Amino acid sequence: MFSMFKKIWWYIKANWLRYVLAITFLNLASLASVIAPKLLEAGIDKIVNKTITKSSLLALFGMMIAVTVGGYLISWLWNYLLFGASIKLEYTIRRNYFRHLLKMDSHFFEKNSSGDLMTRATVDLNAIAMTAGYGILTLVDSVVYLIMILFMMMYTISFKLTIIVLIPIVFIGLGVKILGEKIHAAYAQSQIAFGEMNNLVLESIIGIRVTKAYVQEHAEIEKLKASGANAYRKNNRLVRINALFDPLFRAAFTAASAIAFGVGAYLVFRRELTPGQLVSFVVYLGMLGWPMFALGDLVNIMSRGNASYDRIDNIMSQTPEVKEPAAPVAVGPTFKKLEFRDVTFAYPGSEFPAVENISFTLEKGKTLGIVGKTGSGKTTIIRLLLKQYCLRKGEVAINGVNIKDIAAGEVRGFFGYVPQEHILFSGAIYKNIAFGKENAGAEEIGAAAAAAAFQKDLETFDDGLDTVVGEHGVTLSGGQKQRLAIARALISDPEILILDDSLSAVDGTTEAEILQNLKKARKGKSAIIVAHRLTAVERADEIIVMDNGRIAERGSHEELMKLGKWYYRQYTRQQLTYKTGVEKDDPSADLEIRE
Ligand SMILES: Nc1ncnc2c1ncn2[C@@H]1O[C@H](COP(=O)(O)OP(=O)(O)OP(=O)(O)O)[C@@H](O)[C@H]1O
Ligand SMILES: [Mg+2]
Repeated sequence: MFSMFKKIWWYIKANWLRYVLAITFLNLASLASVIAPKLLEAGIDKIVNKTITKSSLLALFGMMIAVTVGGYLISWLWNYLLFGASIKLEYTIRRNYFRHLLKMDSHFFEKNSSGDLMTRATVDLNAIAMTAGYGILTLVDSVVYLIMILFMMMYTISFKLTIIVLIPIVFIGLGVKILGEKIHAAYAQSQIAFGEMNNLVLESIIGIRVTKAYVQEHAEIEKLKASGANAYRKNNRLVRINALFDPLFRAAFTAASAIAFGVGAYLVFRRELTPGQLVSFVVYLGMLGWPMFALGDLVNIMSRGNASYDRIDNIMSQTPEVKEPAAPVAVGPTFKKLEFRDVTFAYPGSEFPAVENISFTLEKGKTLGIVGKTGSGKTTIIRLLLKQYCLRKGEVAINGVNIKDIAAGEVRGFFGYVPQEHILFSGAIYKNIAFGKENAGAEEIGAAAAAAAFQKDLETFDDGLDTVVGEHGVTLSGGQKQRLAIARALISDPEILILDDSLSAVDGTTEAEILQNLKKARKGKSAIIVAHRLTAVERADEIIVMDNGRIAERGSHEELMKLGKWYYRQYTRQQLTYKTGVEKDDPSADLEIRE
């Protein structure tokens, strides 16, 4: 049970002074509260013996007030110190947790769902913070405070009476042990169910538009209902076991109070106890409730904290497959060439390679086009060169150095990446563009927007660059999102611009305009353009045609046209569609010509 403290020992050690002070004040406050009944006892006995005087009454009264006010101030101090430490722990672990998440590679995020990662960052972290604050409180109070009260009962009132009264209370100890283990298991189960439910809710909110479009509300509700019911059942089980604690306590204390009164009255009658002592004894018995309850809760809090700590630790102990090199080689800042040397790669958990024997070279100032059927491995090539996955066969090199030996930050610094799925952040448009470069000035932002042919759209927005786009950019059209993403990639003026199907949602004229802008603005820089509409790569220095993970054709536009294979057929077909006007200004028609 106390292994939890071992787990957070690093934190307690780092904040030892705070904890020492908190625990000292906590014990002082306990001391103040065990002294109070003694004053009451003295007062009552003086009244019974008729020895009370005005001055002694005033003195007792004054002492009671001093103890209460002193206790109050001390309580404030330990509360602040202890719970302050616990929220600081929560903050520290959360910060480390997020830092860790940022280090993880794509495979990690495929394995762990967002909802589960969220639950760990919220509910589990909360439970850990509970242990560091409330857990310590229950531990100290259930030991020190308990001993203080028992000492007062046994040695200042009656040893005999205390022992008799404690008998029913011993049963609580047994109950605590048995229930504690059950709670641990039930809690872990409920956390898992909660994580699953969280994930489902998250997915369902993100996908709400699709759900409505497919009239799947009913199915979605059923799914959520089932998951919610599961979480409810698991939680309910936890509550059910937890609920056994309280009645156990009440029953034991009622029995103890009855015994105390019965036996106590008898002892008073036999003059072994003064009436004042009986009163203070009963007050002490009442005070025993909290430390005994704390003892029970301690098990509870510790088991929860333990289970939660393990869940966080499980994430923290995972290391990314893409490791940072021990001695990174610096290859920058100038870019000379990028090479793929016989690269074969299968996604983790997949038997079949997504790309096989890929080799190409991209020199400074050149443009590479990558085309091919959907699912043929185009995006996979991009992910590999961004070091998102661990490559086991073949190598990717920048300026002749394997990217395994270059720090991920430096590798990625060469690229301006426009991913196939647009990822925008809620906030102003200019913030989304400036994301690509820290401290970007208004002029640079404007220039990047212009190069991405986004200027015209900006004019139609009331607030221009200050317009706030909703979550994931929901308030923008598909083409606007694409151009915003292109502007974001352009602003850092990267050595290599990667457009992964980033012109698919813009019409032919805008595509031509953007390509023209890029040519002008990016003289001497390189680009990799992945596209379905072949006009986007027509001017590339080399085009590779992917088919089922392999390079099926390669060469310049002219060479591929002469070759008369897939590229030629596709190009002619697209031109035909374009000329007959079916596709013109209607990017959705592009879908028809995808194979
Ligand atoms: N994260 C992943 N885990 C496992 N397999 C994946 C993953 N991502 C893609 N794949 C598989 O790898 C293959 C290549 O996918 P890739 O995304 O590279 O295709 P693509 O050529 O970019 O297609 P599109 O034109 O539709 O974007 C596909 O068969 C796909 O199912
Ligand atoms: Mg793709």
